[in-house]
Amino acid sequence: MTNDRREFLRTAAAMGAALAWGGRARASRLAWREREDLYPEGVASGDPDWHSVILWTRRPFAAGPRRMLSVEVAEDPAFRRVVARADAPVSAAADWTTRVLVGGLQPSRVYWYRFLDSEGNGSRVGRTLTAPRDDDPRPVTFAFVSCQSVNEGKLNAYRRMIFEDERAKREDQLGFVLHLGDFIYEVVEYPEELATRYDRTIYEVARYPDGGKTGKLHYPLTLDGYRAVYRGYLADPDLKDARARWPFVAIWDNHEFSWQGWQSILKPGDDGRPGQTLKVAANQAWWEYLPSRCRKAGSASLETFDAPAVKDVKIERWDANGLGDEPNNLAAINSLIGYRTVRYGRHLELIITDQHSYRSREPTDHPGLEKLSPPEFPGMFPETAAQALDGGRAFKGRRPPAELTFGAVSVANPQRDAPPQTILGAEQKAWFKARLRASAATWKIWGNSEGAPDWRGDPQNLPAGMAPPWPGGFASLGGGDYGTAYVERAEIYDLVRDAGITGFAIVSGDRHSFWAGYASAELPPGRFEPVGLSFVGGSLSSPGALESYEHRLPMDHPLRPLFLADRPGAAKPDPTCNMLLKHGVRACLEYAKSFDLARARALSNPDLSPHLEFVDLGGHGYATVRLSADEMRTDFVCIPRPITRSERPDGGDLRYRVAHIAKLWRPGERPRLVQQVLEGDPGLAI
Ligand SMILES: [Fe+2]
Repeated sequence: MTNDRREFLRTAAAMGAALAWGGRARASRLAWREREDLYPEGVASGDPDWHSVILWTRRPFAAGPRRMLSVEVAEDPAFRRVVARADAPVSAAADWTTRVLVGGLQPSRVYWYRFLDSEGNGSRVGRTLTAPRDDDPRPVTFAFVSCQSVNEGKLNAYRRMIFEDERAKREDQLGFVLHLGDFIYEVVEYPEELATRYDRTIYEVARYPDGGKTGKLHYPLTLDGYRAVYRGYLADPDLKDARARWPFVAIWDNHEFSWQGWQSILKPGDDGRPGQTLKVAANQAWWEYLPSRCRKAGSASLETFDAPAVKDVKIERWDANGLGDEPNNLAAINSLIGYRTVRYGRHLELIITDQHSYRSREPTDHPGLEKLSPPEFPGMFPETAAQALDGGRAFKGRRPPAELTFGAVSVANPQRDAPPQTILGAEQKAWFKARLRASAATWKIWGNSEGAPDWRGDPQNLPAGMAPPWPGGFASLGGGDYGTAYVERAEIYDLVRDAGITGFAIVSGDRHSFWAGYASAELPPGRFEPVGLSFVGGSLSSPGALESYEHRLPMDHPLRPLFLADRPGAAKPDPTCNMLLKHGVRACLEYAKSFDLARARALSNPDLSPHLEFVDLGGHGYATVRLSADEMRTDFVCIPRPITRSERPDGGDLRYRVAHIAKLWRPGERPRLVQQVLEGDPGLAI
């Protein structure tokens, strides 16, 4: 037995994997007839390394509890050169899903796989790829995506991605798809209750016979509810085709558990209801439907999740990092550990973190704070107050303000005695920092479901009389992600700087918008000191902030020009909200008056957003990343609002394709992006 094989068997045993081991190629001897109807969710693969990958399918049977499938892996789509074959158990206990870890494969190779039952009824054929070896110097390419509502949109972006990848040269083809969360939205609208929202048609996804409801949003209250929504999502043909073409590397965001959930706490329509049993159910359904190397707390078996028994118990005690010190909470959030690394050739180490299971309470989530964000300033919150809330008792060298003020209004500081906000939590953060320090790859890419760039405006520069006086300083327009987790973000960026780490870049999702720029702990009037790059990918389909402004911001709101410019005769307003974040209020007001982009940009406020090269709050699509020994290139591929499914093989029109390219920098040097508009017109995003 070779060392590779011994090592693999150890890994596989730890994962409790159904195993296949690659060997000499020979033609398939199985009688396979494709029966797509018997495998309604298709096939998938996940988490490749240089010699193995996990394969997945779902084959429901009417009678249980357990059946055996076979899986074949071949070097060719006709299965003339089959290199591995294995049993793949399916059982009602895992909703008839199966995961098979296939090892002994060659690095950097394309493989084809298919499942079949004992009667020869076969799944579709899937394609997957192994990673390059750790020392492979060739460039690597991957895509990152997020936020794929099929309740309110269609996945034309995957169709475009497939179309382009099929036509790309082998060395330019995507190695994997990094899915940064909101693979499902657990909140589901029923078309007969809500026919449209914003510009969207509401499409049927799933029904929760035993779910909850808040407003028009239905949400699951059982494991079967979560499973139903995954099956509803996997009815989408473009998602199924994407999963059958590339291995996915996935981390959940919030909606795989609960819209406003954190740790194991549920928020929909309720304040802080304990949800330990649902957190376990959400983890189980995620584990059943997304093949990955995430570690689960139950048995090591890849066959069933083996959920820990937990009770819904109110959390009364919090540790020094805001972690709920309650045994059922700890058991629930540790029932599936999502954070992990993926090594992919010499140039990429992908370090993936979980933003919801360990985080402390969102510091702006206290009644009364809305007084600091009056309706005259839509979505704006004083940045100094956001910083004080984030810093908690540690703010300004342990001198937190007793009150937060907005002009004449003041509110008692609810975070005065709280620890600083953490999104990662202490244990994951220690792991993350150690991995960052230890990585030997050229590029250390932080795969992170939540955005990190500040989103802020400068209402302090509004001309007198347009609005009540802004109390001073910048306004934060974000919240809930690393854009306002100032203390923790600085802790990580300072580590990158102090340890002399180069090639650090963040790829993230959640914001339903495209952002490209730099990772800097502070912005003016603080020190702008970029230590890396920071990107956010647009949503695949979910509505973004621009769409909400279009539908919700009144025509006569005095500050409407900061968000939307109504060009006479145009079908849609121009998105000055992008300009607000990158150039500031003076540029927006000029643009809304003259529609002259050059004149508007000439009024850009250089202190507002030196960290941004690009922001588009209305962009949908995906991003690709290419990494080599000396360069990181990130392309945003933006499509029109995906309201209906395109029947075209390319998924429909492109809005724009924009590349941001950075040369690898040396320790102490500043990273710099070069922007290239390759197709279309990103308009006000630059
Ligand atoms: Fe989302």
